[in-house]
Amino acid sequence: MPDQSTPPWWRTAVFYEIYVRSFADSTGDGVGDLRGIHDHLDHLVTLGVDALWLTPFYPSPMADHGYDVSDPRGVDPMFGTMQDFDDLLAAAHDRGLRVTVDIVPNHFSSAHPWFLAALDATPGSPERDRFIFRDGRGPDGVEPPTNWLSTFGGPAWTRAPDGQWYLHLFTPEQPDLNWRNPDVGDDMEATLRFWLDRGVDGFRIDVAHGLFKAVDLPDNPAGLAPDLMSETAEPTGMWNQPEVHDVYRRWRRVLDERPGEPVLVGEVWIGDAAEQARYVRPDELHLVFNFRLLFSAWEPSEMSQAIDRSTHELRAVGAASTWVLSNHDVVRHTTRYGGGAAGLRKARAALLLILALPGAVFLYEGEELGLEEVELPDAALQDPIWESSGHTVRGRDGCRVPMPWSGDRPPYGFTPGERSWLPQPLDWAELTVAAESRDRTSMLGFYREALARRPRTLDPDAPLTWNRRDSVLDVTVTGAPGVRCVVNLGAEPVALPPGDLLLTSDPVTGRMLPSDTTAWLALPPA
Ligand code: GLC
Repeated sequence: MPDQSTPPWWRTAVFYEIYVRSFADSTGDGVGDLRGIHDHLDHLVTLGVDALWLTPFYPSPMADHGYDVSDPRGVDPMFGTMQDFDDLLAAAHDRGLRVTVDIVPNHFSSAHPWFLAALDATPGSPERDRFIFRDGRGPDGVEPPTNWLSTFGGPAWTRAPDGQWYLHLFTPEQPDLNWRNPDVGDDMEATLRFWLDRGVDGFRIDVAHGLFKAVDLPDNPAGLAPDLMSETAEPTGMWNQPEVHDVYRRWRRVLDERPGEPVLVGEVWIGDAAEQARYVRPDELHLVFNFRLLFSAWEPSEMSQAIDRSTHELRAVGAASTWVLSNHDVVRHTTRYGGGAAGLRKARAALLLILALPGAVFLYEGEELGLEEVELPDAALQDPIWESSGHTVRGRDGCRVPMPWSGDRPPYGFTPGERSWLPQPLDWAELTVAAESRDRTSMLGFYREALARRPRTLDPDAPLTWNRRDSVLDVTVTGAPGVRCVVNLGAEPVALPPGDLLLTSDPVTGRMLPSDTTAWLALPPA
């Protein structure tokens, strides 16, 4: 059993998301791979993160860039070999970095042997029962069985050659699994054990609020895809069914048998904080991504409510919070914050805010360089959303453009080949890791300093006290050592409260905190 006296590592860890395709390529094919990560581990050590989250590197036809898994216990040749994975894991552990990997339990790839067998089998067969096949409605079953829409646009059902329909809440190449069939849970547990045996430190669970669908597959009201991030979302048979909690209880038992406190982190897109907190009750997942701050406007009441509401509900079940500003599915936060110098300034201020709050922090590759969302030409777009929306939604490629490492023109050391799988902008020469490493005033210099000076012993359960003022987020996080974090979200400078200045997100002269700047202040001794 874990030692109860010190909080487990993941409660206050800084995780770093590696979108494997876009981190570093070692072979020259323009796609990132495991050896590329291995070659750049020192960047992550110098940055000061505690743990990595690797997006899927498993065999896949890449219809959704690896989130369509055809063999969950293998490595796609595009990303390397199992030996490369073992080497990377050992090298990361040698450097004190923990490694978590993605698990994708809601769906398989349509190229997974189970789905190929299901297509070959007849309606009602055990092979079909591992997925969600149904007869259609209307004459000859030509209409889909329900009015459900895919997350990526278009109907959530595709017709198999024999006329039955199968469900896919994402692309047609990602058929949803039937979690009411025991084979599915057994296979997923085998996958957990496989990677734990290799030595991983935990899992990020893709679409963790998915998996089960309501038994009778009810239509959604008015045919709309419910907005799960709304606090008052209508219930739907598509997501968040009560049975999913038993899955995580089973997974938790598997992880609890292992040494080293491996972690389960759920991607749970549910806006109702109390409902989301049910996923991290003491015998379920350890952490859920908290996207509330990511969706907040740069405005004190919205931001403080986002912090308070999530912290309150999570603490009610004994769970730690998480803080996240960017990932591979959303517009980069520098751009969301307005882009340019103003966006960078807010991004620096936001980093100091999340690092001061109790809980775990998730960074996304490239944010430490201040990368912005890239406007890609239509012809370069690769996200399946672009096609499935009939070229109306551009999708997520703009935050997935490969990392610039060195040099003054594309591919900026990302690949020994000539070009990267998504084109990099021509003006990134000053944003490479090499260029920013030479300049202590760069975003990278700031991230390194902020991570090094984060109050590491911050108590994950430290009380938050708000010192309410117009246009200012001013929160005291008590505990050892504790910190007072003041963010000026207004247009005018504001006077700083008493206390030694520990770190500021931009230079401060005197005791006036400029607009869009955060300060960490020491607490007076108790
Ligand atoms: C998650 C992933 C996203 C993927 C989807 C389907 O939301 O983060 O990238 O497309 O699941 O697997």
